[in-house]
Amino acid sequence: MSAQATKSEGLAGIIAGQSAVCSVEQGGLYYRGYEIHDLAENATFEEVAYLLLIGDKPSGAELEKFKKQMIEARALPDHAVELVKKVAKAPAVHPMDALRTVVSYLAHFDPDCQDNSKEAELRKSIRLTAQIATIIGHMQNVIDGRDIVKPDPALGHAANLLYMMRGAKPTEEEAHIIDVSLILYAEHDFNASTFTGRVIAGTLSDMHGAVTGAIAALKGPLHGGANEAAMEMIQEVGSVDNVEPFMKNAFATKRKIMGFGHRVYKEGDHRAAILHNLGRAYADKKGKEAVKWFEIGEKVQKIMADEKKIYANVDFPCGMTYFVMGIPVPQYTPIFVASRITGWAAHIIEQHENNKLIRPLSEYTGPSGLKW
Ligand code: CMC
Repeated sequence: MSAQATKSEGLAGIIAGQSAVCSVEQGGLYYRGYEIHDLAENATFEEVAYLLLIGDKPSGAELEKFKKQMIEARALPDHAVELVKKVAKAPAVHPMDALRTVVSYLAHFDPDCQDNSKEAELRKSIRLTAQIATIIGHMQNVIDGRDIVKPDPALGHAANLLYMMRGAKPTEEEAHIIDVSLILYAEHDFNASTFTGRVIAGTLSDMHGAVTGAIAALKGPLHGGANEAAMEMIQEVGSVDNVEPFMKNAFATKRKIMGFGHRVYKEGDHRAAILHNLGRAYADKKGKEAVKWFEIGEKVQKIMADEKKIYANVDFPCGMTYFVMGIPVPQYTPIFVASRITGWAAHIIEQHENNKLIRPLSEYTGPSGLKW
């Protein structure tokens, strides 16, 4: 390691490049200058996708054109549907792995696959955003033993995703909750999966490859996989009465509480309360059994805040919200992908537009001076 090098475990606190896509601050989260509460309240996922990919707020006509392009790109070729059928029920598969495989496979049939020009990358971004939702829907159909539900061009992105997963149209409230969760998940600067995508793009590799790698990075429970892990943990707690003993044991055994903590946010995640409030209101209407999961979660949050000053990140309310909506737990992180694809794509485009190979140093700790 050279004398001028800066060392930081996990690159914590290191500014590893510039970006105009998103700003993650203690005081707020901004997508291209727009604050997250504003977007969650006043925009749709399609508008946010346009904002991230194209760079500014769409006019009415621009949005209509963008939505039409997304809808036209939804269907998968028949051979890709066959692949979904094969991998969705493979013996050791998690839906994130199946999604990664199908995204990688789709590269071979994308006419723009080897073209890293901005125009081609935008076309690929739109196609991938549309197709990923379809892959998730088809996977769930296969898992449930239902015939494949084709996309419905009359539905918006979030409503269509739920429709394809369930084979039944969602209520307006359900579609809205998913839409908001997609907005909240869409972008978060140099998080692990986005950074993975940028590292891959930084070698001048292609978008499908970068997204495939990003999906693998998002899967882990320290990152996107936390929404599934959080809900599995809440189910393990099982009852409000068991929260205290569970947490006592977790602290004694230094067990990590999934869906809590963040590398950047130390006073709480700006996205968490937005989703919590929507999920909780939905659960209140559904009744006691649904509310129970939020009561457990709220007690866990209180103990974490009081005793550790560690706060829930967006994955914690996501777990409870998707659960009370009846979404199967292993699909929570794939749904995260259905949203974050827009942020990843925006970063891959940005990386390619002003590329610098990403290549940090390591501090060598092995033996030295050995003779063969
Ligand atoms: N439960 C218990 N203790 C925690 C937690 C947690 N969730 N998060 C942090 N801590 C403690 C940790 O044990 C450590 O304590 P000590 O200094 O005594 O060893 C201290 O806080 C610092 O934690 P760290 O893991 O070194 O901090 P980091 O910045 O490297 O980690 C994190 C950030 C997100 C990996 C971590 O908070 C974590 O593992 N959280 C649980 C997994 C999770 O929810 N991930 C989702 C992240 S946000 C959204 C997303 O990416 O999807």
